[in-house]
Amino acid sequence: MQKTVEGFSKLSKEEKIDWIAHNCTTNPERTKTTLAQYWNHDRELQKTHDEFIENTLTNYYLPFAVAPNFLLNGKVFTIPMIIEESSVVAAASKAAKFWLTRGGFKTTILGTEKVGQVHFIHHGEKNTLIDFIKEITPRFYEGTEAITRNMKKRGGGITAISLRDKTEGLQGYYQLHCTFETLDAMGANFINSCLEQFAKTLKEEAAKTALELEVIMSILSNYVPNCLVRAEVSCPISTAKGDTTVSADFAKRFVQAVAIAKSEPFRAVTHNKGIMNGIDAVVLATGNDFRAVEAGVHAFAAKDGNYSSLTHAEIKDGLFTFWIEVPLALGTVGGLTSLHPLVKLALEILQNPSAKELMQITAVAGLAQNFAALRSLVTTGIQKGHMKMHLLNMLNQLGASEQEKRQLVDYFKERTVSNASVKEGLELIRKQ
Ligand code: MEV
Repeated sequence: MQKTVEGFSKLSKEEKIDWIAHNCTTNPERTKTTLAQYWNHDRELQKTHDEFIENTLTNYYLPFAVAPNFLLNGKVFTIPMIIEESSVVAAASKAAKFWLTRGGFKTTILGTEKVGQVHFIHHGEKNTLIDFIKEITPRFYEGTEAITRNMKKRGGGITAISLRDKTEGLQGYYQLHCTFETLDAMGANFINSCLEQFAKTLKEEAAKTALELEVIMSILSNYVPNCLVRAEVSCPISTAKGDTTVSADFAKRFVQAVAIAKSEPFRAVTHNKGIMNGIDAVVLATGNDFRAVEAGVHAFAAKDGNYSSLTHAEIKDGLFTFWIEVPLALGTVGGLTSLHPLVKLALEILQNPSAKELMQITAVAGLAQNFAALRSLVTTGIQKGHMKMHLLNMLNQLGASEQEKRQLVDYFKERTVSNASVKEGLELIRKQ
């Protein structure tokens, strides 16, 4: 059984590693070497990374890749993506190229509203509470003046504060439902600071009038259905093969595949997971909070009471259209954006977008990923492309040399990749 430890966070990095190596692993020397292997030689850079979180032992690498050739509202983008799954970047690049000759991606921002709430309990008269909140609402704005001054100067700030009666679901439960415009910041710190100040004002004002209420908590919501972006592709359907159209048969099967994801939650979850392959990869590359995005997106996928597809497709008047509407609360300033050199670089590759532009780029990455997955699923099946991309991972696991890898990549151009066939292929060329 592992030991417990007192004051771990106060130990030096070397002491922490020593403790972990001896108490949690069977080969302390190997553990130390593995952890040290991933340290950065640049001490300042390593220190920056160490200080992102507590108890840092080393760095954890994921590939930083790019998918080029995305035409978005007439402008070309190369999209940075951070992801470990073999086929995702290749699929995104393929989808980008496919739509490059078919008019590219069109995007629109449908809203940028962020949300936060002060949750409190009040068992008294509802009308008294309504009057009280109406009367003290100016105090909420005055109390947060110092927090909102800069944001207001730039055109953002608190956009509304309203009282919501939630007593149907929970006895005595009310909330201040507050909305914000946080411009290029994701805004979590700004929102939470405002909310905590609202809560303070609420308590102070209630105490003055002897109105009984108990504030339970104040926190932003990661459900942002009005911080919404739409991305779309469309092109004519045709019987002839061409690089400006899609075939009628393909379009029909594609629309059916989306319809299945709309009506069947088991399929919708996987369908949306494919979308998140693209979205998360950009969210990570740009230093945004992928847990917040994931939570908000999946809540949105269930907004009508049934978990359903985030994308939609139709054939109308000879035109195939495929689109996504997705809530994305992203920032291009604050947080990791100025601290992590690779985040800065990712943003530079994206031509230093505003938060609105980043929402559009990210939605496009999600739509492209879904297009690529469905295109494979309704034609060749997913495994052909997926296993081809996974081939190098398998060969690395089997200890293939560089030359063997080259030979086998060639060998599998015309063959089906599976665990067994790769093993057989390697044995075969080793025999030769
Ligand atoms: C795999 O990461 C993602 C897919 O399963 C998505 C889908 O099925 O649509 C291929």
